[in-house]
Amino acid sequence: MHICNLARFGLTLTALLSASTAAARDDMTHEVCSPDTRTCFLLTTVGEIPTYRVTRDGKPVIAPSRLGFMLRGDGKFEHATALGQASFSEADERWEQPWGENRWVRDHYREMKVPIVELIGGKRRIELIARVFDHGVGFRFAFPDQPQLHDVQIDEELTEFNIAGTAEAWWIPAGEWNRYEYLYSRTPANQVGTAHSPISFRRDDGLHIAIHEAALVNYASFWLQRIDGQRFRTRLSPSSQPSKVRRAAPFETPWRTILIAEDAPGLYAASDMILSLNEPNKLGDVSWVKPLKYIGIWWAMHLDQASWHSGPKHGATTENTLKYIDFAAKHGFDAVLVEGWNDGWDGNWIGDHGRNFDFATAYPDFDMDRIAAHARKMGVAIMGHHETAGNSGRYAAQMDAAFDYYARHGIPAVKTGYVADAGGVLHRDKDGNDIWDWHDGQYQVRHHQAVVEAAAKRRISINAHEPVKDTGLRRTWPNMVSREGARGMEYQAWGDPPNPPEHEANLAFTRMLSGPMDYTPGIVSLVGKGGRRIPSTLAKQLANYVVIYSPVQMAADLPEHYEARPAAFDFIKRVPADWEVTRVLGGAIGDYAVFARQRRGGDDWYVGGVTDKAARDFTVDFAFLPAGKRYSATIWRDGAGGGIDGDPFAMAIETKTVTAATTWPVRMAAGGGFAIALTPAR
Ligand code: NOJ
Ligand code: CA
Repeated sequence: MHICNLARFGLTLTALLSASTAAARDDMTHEVCSPDTRTCFLLTTVGEIPTYRVTRDGKPVIAPSRLGFMLRGDGKFEHATALGQASFSEADERWEQPWGENRWVRDHYREMKVPIVELIGGKRRIELIARVFDHGVGFRFAFPDQPQLHDVQIDEELTEFNIAGTAEAWWIPAGEWNRYEYLYSRTPANQVGTAHSPISFRRDDGLHIAIHEAALVNYASFWLQRIDGQRFRTRLSPSSQPSKVRRAAPFETPWRTILIAEDAPGLYAASDMILSLNEPNKLGDVSWVKPLKYIGIWWAMHLDQASWHSGPKHGATTENTLKYIDFAAKHGFDAVLVEGWNDGWDGNWIGDHGRNFDFATAYPDFDMDRIAAHARKMGVAIMGHHETAGNSGRYAAQMDAAFDYYARHGIPAVKTGYVADAGGVLHRDKDGNDIWDWHDGQYQVRHHQAVVEAAAKRRISINAHEPVKDTGLRRTWPNMVSREGARGMEYQAWGDPPNPPEHEANLAFTRMLSGPMDYTPGIVSLVGKGGRRIPSTLAKQLANYVVIYSPVQMAADLPEHYEARPAAFDFIKRVPADWEVTRVLGGAIGDYAVFARQRRGGDDWYVGGVTDKAARDFTVDFAFLPAGKRYSATIWRDGAGGGIDGDPFAMAIETKTVTAATTWPVRMAAGGGFAIALTPAR
């Protein structure tokens, strides 16, 4: 086909003719469009280089962008290629999340598979698989087994994303020392450097585009390196090995994903495409994976009021842990996170690269048997903690014993941690030499998968800090419940600078497109280390429980701070961590975000709204409620004189009856927000 399709690539007829004299095969273009036909993915070759583009309503979203690989051995796979016959299929299925933002996810797409064949040399062949959804595209490469391409060593992947139309971008830098823990930059798209994904773009005409990946399994993560203008190319995270990725064919790369929506709420709504591109659950019965709300021996360390290491300030003592368990039981929390309970924190655990951590030996002042027995009696779980300091090799060697130890003590979830500079993931070669890898390279991607599988054997869920980015693997391994992978609340204790007021409105439409975040909300004291003020209102701390999704959701502040703020604590105690349905009621990246979510298996709803440093009026339209039913709605909102420049604790609480026909104007103060709990009226 299709001269006309090629013309839609923006090629002149002359260019087309000269290209096709150079390569007789350049006239072949294959196209697949979404079920609603508005979004299309087109694949052709230009100058015998595989080139794709994406359109919406016939207009370019991704302008012509090259595809290819740098392969070790036989060199670049890109030039002198031709396309083979395309084959097509489609699917429209609904699948159930065991836990999540929505119980049901619709997986609805049209798919095209196209062989890409070298015309020269070893005549190697790969296959491009594209799935086009109404609000996005996923494509990946399959490497079939062939004598000339069996031991596949990928030095670089050359997938480009050439953003069409002038756009702004929200992004964090990749390849820098602090992994994913950066403040979001908002720049013209043509001023991005090298960025992590998800990266979100807003075009001048309002169209929103977000680029990410799905099903990152046994491969290196990509960074997006800007080449020129608004043209980006994948740059795979580095490896200690000669090639960034080494795989035996046959295999498939992760999906490269492009979400397309009219606005920021649409981007969030479209992001379940990333989940759908992952394989279904491989763990069978996962009823043991339980969303939970937890408190923890945690914030005190970040305030420097307690220590992870042993000594007079040791936080994880038996006595302290028993107190936390009692507090959790009294207030209906499911679990208590305990950090700093195990051997290895003394001295410089970061500088020593965690070489002293022992994951199954408790400090002498931490009586695990007694604590586990008390927790069981009180109906509260312990959330375990494995800080590795990036020493994944040491952890991998101990993890079976470590998970057995936790399983023996009835521990259902473990927070892991990899505090080390990027490039500081340590393991050993077979001769015992130190090897250094990246937090998002192929080695560590495999490590996380091994951890999650070892944990699953013991019915333990994993919440990883300093992780690799989320690519929807929770669909396949539902015990991979949450992760960090962005600046969390800890930065409000000691970050320089702390997270600014726009942070949550940035996260909602960037980081959160990839999946749950263990943000650790709920600092109702609004003070960090040394008494420094947190740039947030009290009401916003509550709103974060609805805006920033995680199936393991922390009430991160100290128990005494909750006791001092009972009205705020009331909302934190009520809000669930698992949802039936999610609706994004409004938002603009980095400005504000308003979410409504229905409790999983319940008929109560929650609404959370956050704003940046600007005060903002938002009218909540309750049209998401079932028609004809009356709800009692209680709001926790910024009060008169509130805001980060006024009294951040000023909070008004009111209750009224609403129906699907009600609208309720709410004022968010500077750096503020609001939270609403809705229960059916009696
Ligand atoms: C960094 C994690 O993000 C934080 O939550 C944890 O307390 C420390 N590492 C220590 O493991
Ligand atoms: Ca961290």
